[in-house]
Amino acid sequence: MTQKPVPVMTGAGFCVNASKIMRTLIAAFSSSVGKKFLMAFTGLLLSLFLIAHAIGNSTTFLGLDVFNAYAEHLHSLGFFITLFEIGLLLIFGTHIAFAIILYFQNLYARTTRYLVQKASGGRTPGSRTMPYTGLIILIFIIVHLGDFHFIEKTTTIGDLVKQTLNQPVAALFYIVAMAAVILHISHGFWSLFQTFGVNHPKYDCTLRSGTLGLTIILGTVFVLIPLLALVWSGFLS
Ligand code: HEM
Repeated sequence: MTQKPVPVMTGAGFCVNASKIMRTLIAAFSSSVGKKFLMAFTGLLLSLFLIAHAIGNSTTFLGLDVFNAYAEHLHSLGFFITLFEIGLLLIFGTHIAFAIILYFQNLYARTTRYLVQKASGGRTPGSRTMPYTGLIILIFIIVHLGDFHFIEKTTTIGDLVKQTLNQPVAALFYIVAMAAVILHISHGFWSLFQTFGVNHPKYDCTLRSGTLGLTIILGTVFVLIPLLALVWSGFLS
């Protein structure tokens, strides 16, 4: 009986396979569907980050000590937090880069854009303003990281949040930016499920209600923080 030769992966074989996989991946993500899928996937991860961030930030409602304890606990994770931040940066970067590419593709393919808009059925304020709210969020994140992340911390993080959002201009900027976040996710959450193929009329009502519920909860937490910091001296004390 003759034995079948066992395939051996040589260095060259590995390289050929790796470049084949790379080419397949590049081809997949060069298509409009691939780009939309990447947008939806990174959007889902960013949504999970926003939910976690809102839960963490909601400890501000429990007072300065609780919020500081939460922040200290996060910082004590050290290397894992650095790893998380690098991942988050990559996810944000991919989401923004593909949003810009898709925006310009749609702009130049005017006929296609018209058809897609007609077919998507019922434009909402959220869907109409996606590029603009996206831009506001990008500006917000740059300012936000400057406010709380890339700053030499001479006080506790809770005092820093209180001092920053105590200033009317900063608080108003945060409130406007949070309105943009709410509008953006009010369409984004629903839209990512459409891209993943969960678009059966049977689930549409559940998805729309779920999106609305989550948007209201996140919006309430994110808007209340700068609002309370502005109008209530007892906030974060
Ligand atoms: C009222 C609303 C918000 C408040 C008070 C707030 C507060 C904070 C604070 C205190 C930090 C921690 C900085 C540190 O400890 O190093 C932080 C980090 C961050 N926030 Fe916010 N945030 C708010 C909304 C948002 C929103 C809506 C987004 C995204 C759209 C966002 C994105 C980020 C990012 C990306 C980081 C850096 C994460 C990291 O370095 O681990 N934040 N925020």
